[in-house]
Amino acid sequence: MMTRYIKLTGDPGDREAVLEAGKIIREGGIVAFPTETVYGLGGDALNCDAAAKIYAAKGRPSDNPLIVHIADIGSLEKIAARVPEDARRLAGKFWPGPLTMIFHKKECVPDETTGGRKTVAVRFPDQRTAQELIRAAGGYVCAPSANISGKPSPTCGRDVMEDMDGRIDAVLDDGESVIGLESTIVDMTCDPPEMLRPGAVTPGMLKECIPDILIGAGSGQEGSGRDEEDHPRAPGMKYRHYAPGAPLYLIGPEEAGSGQDVPGGSAKADSQIMIGRIRELTGEAHAQGRKVGILTCAEHAAMYEAESVKVLGGESDEESLAHNLFRCLREFDREAVDVIYSETFDQSGIGFALMNRLKKAANAKGETHVES
Ligand code: TXA
Ligand code: MG
Repeated sequence: MMTRYIKLTGDPGDREAVLEAGKIIREGGIVAFPTETVYGLGGDALNCDAAAKIYAAKGRPSDNPLIVHIADIGSLEKIAARVPEDARRLAGKFWPGPLTMIFHKKECVPDETTGGRKTVAVRFPDQRTAQELIRAAGGYVCAPSANISGKPSPTCGRDVMEDMDGRIDAVLDDGESVIGLESTIVDMTCDPPEMLRPGAVTPGMLKECIPDILIGAGSGQEGSGRDEEDHPRAPGMKYRHYAPGAPLYLIGPEEAGSGQDVPGGSAKADSQIMIGRIRELTGEAHAQGRKVGILTCAEHAAMYEAESVKVLGGESDEESLAHNLFRCLREFDREAVDVIYSETFDQSGIGFALMNRLKKAANAKGETHVES
């Protein structure tokens, strides 16, 4: 299939292009589109044939449900059977934005869209082109992230084309995704609600609205006691994820020894230990003739000598660190490094979601479950 690449330019002509893309979706086609989190692979959520095309393009198992994107808060009632008060509060505060909520679904949402589940995940993205496209497409666009299953989510048109050229009808390129990590997912069908995936809407922000919200095991924080692998609540979380081609090792003070061993053990001492460990591992890899990639913060970059040293952002600038992660992982693939060592970053703010994705990328190799 020939994939149309539609680059938006900021000119009035963009409007036509977005309407055209909406028409492709209404007629049953698949269009990749920008959102503020990552790019999505969109089809008509109410057309039972669209999901199959999305799964095929992505190489994703069809038991993995899709998020339905809306562009008007009123659309929620048309697809969700019950909207609890807590959900209204979250929507009031975080929609449009990087928050996905799971509800019991209404009949009009086909089982194909929800991977056979009786629930539907819904998000109202905060990106103008996304909103215009959703409206042009009829109001309900189901979309997973626009990557081949298992790879890091795309955060720009080029990354989408790399995975999807020839597999879908069109790509709508509207520049880089502002956030760069996927949305926070909260299951509103249980009481209290439970966060299943961390994102830019942080646990702290959610707790301000719902004090007793559970922070799920799958999010990288222990606590709910559920066995994530056996009973994944967000099925996608059980699959191989965010993985660059080379094995990625996450190196923190824990791996390198504890800061307490160091006189006056402090964050700074921890950083020194972490840097020392990465330098040591880099030396060992070089001795084996391997090409090394390193993920670091601006403050530490000069400490490393390797084939590819990538700066995600300033040490305490979690937003930049998160924004650049997936782009850098994809660059490592293009450069064909043999091994990647990543620093551990602070978990405050979106840093919690960043570390969740890094842990999953690090775990992706050698896992026994489905490679999708
Ligand atoms: O930011 C985002 O959420 C991006 C943009 C495009 O909106 N989308 C995205 O979709 O990350 P995806 O499919 O890559 O991840 C959605 C996750 C999957 O793990 C899926 O299993 C889970 O949400 N999910 C979707 N519907 C669900 C449902 N009804 N019940 C439980 N989990 C669900
Ligand atoms: Mg995804």
